[in-house]
Amino acid sequence: MAIPLSPLELLERTWRGEYVDADSVRRFVRSWLSDGAPDSQMAAWCAIAQARGLDRESTQGLMAALIGSGERLDLASLGATGDLHSTGGVGDNASLVAVPLAAALGVRVAKMSRRGLGHWGGTIDKLEAIPGYRTTLELGEFIGQVQRVGCAVIAHNPRLVPGDGRLTSLREATGTVANRDLIAASVMSKALAGGATALALEVTWGDGAACGTLEQAQRTAELMQWLAVGWEREVRTIVTAIREPLGRMIGNALEVREASDVLRGGGPADLRRVAARIAGELAEAAGVVAAGEGVTRAEVALADGSGLAMAERWVEAQGGNPAVWSTPAVLAIAPVGVPALADRDGVVESIDARAIGESVRRLGAGRLHPSQQVDHAVGIELMAKVGETVTSGAPIAMIHARDASLGDNCATEILAAVHVGVRAGAGDAATTARD
Ligand code: URA
Repeated sequence: MAIPLSPLELLERTWRGEYVDADSVRRFVRSWLSDGAPDSQMAAWCAIAQARGLDRESTQGLMAALIGSGERLDLASLGATGDLHSTGGVGDNASLVAVPLAAALGVRVAKMSRRGLGHWGGTIDKLEAIPGYRTTLELGEFIGQVQRVGCAVIAHNPRLVPGDGRLTSLREATGTVANRDLIAASVMSKALAGGATALALEVTWGDGAACGTLEQAQRTAELMQWLAVGWEREVRTIVTAIREPLGRMIGNALEVREASDVLRGGGPADLRRVAARIAGELAEAAGVVAAGEGVTRAEVALADGSGLAMAERWVEAQGGNPAVWSTPAVLAIAPVGVPALADRDGVVESIDARAIGESVRRLGAGRLHPSQQVDHAVGIELMAKVGETVTSGAPIAMIHARDASLGDNCATEILAAVHVGVRAGAGDAATTARD
């Protein structure tokens, strides 16, 4: 067996882009987790990963160290179990719909989630917008609820992959949350330690996502499949474009409200499609519906109200107000509404999802430093998405802000992020007015 590299050798080799074996990375991360290697070395390693990516073996070594940092759940006694994760994207609240849908189809969904990272939201911040919802349960209570109700979603329990929590804090503090290899190791460590046998992994791409291009997303999806080899899991990857925000709402309570629209049979078509796909793939992977039928069955569960009924049981079991799905007025909404008004007639050609995510983060929906409290009530509603017509003087978006100056600032940023093409006349090519 090769002699493991010292932390310094490992850093130097990684900088040069040379091969590093999984075991050396695993030892390095383990040493950092047990206060051997200092934070400065781990921060430098994350910065290299962010700048130039990691090879598969290094990513695997990281994942192994994270899994080894805590306990692993065994959910075999629960029957057909499933878990779902996303690499994250602006406005991506599909999990809020996919969890109860998959549970309505018969999957026992045991999900641990994270809070928002960088300019992406996180399921836990969204769920905390629901009055009374408890994101922290003891593991026994969590498993009991999955068995009794059909699903549970909690914040990460420190008994499982505690190393990921520590690494995520370091990544947040060093601006290195957006690297897809670090994300793959983080997601897979939690998915594998979580113990569910079926996994649905959403890999996002586009300006508002972890991967810039479709090709990168496909490579990341393959990497995640590879990381699960040997773990006896049925893994499905779902590649989702986030070139504009998913759905129309960005912000914690607003995204819960939008999920409730979908569960009641309405809501934006793109969100409905992604949520049904994730739930359907998970149901197929868990073996509770026949191959090729998952998405149709998930759509039926949306149409016949069984997804909604499950969502009510789930939230109630976790102490939340189940009326959240039928009476969105129980959700807090920020006191100041500021419209972002179009200054021309035209058609929306593109929306810079990253700029929107960053703007909503500055509005208070996300964190600018790791210990910041998020404001669940703020966010934006997009009135126009790509391909839709806007009229001069009509709102492109409505900003829900804590005060007028934050709202005005956000409105200016949103107008700069939404590119409206001015059609010069029939037959002429559209020209982009705001580049
Ligand atoms: N989800 C995770 O669990 N970790 C990341 O780093 C990003 C998304």
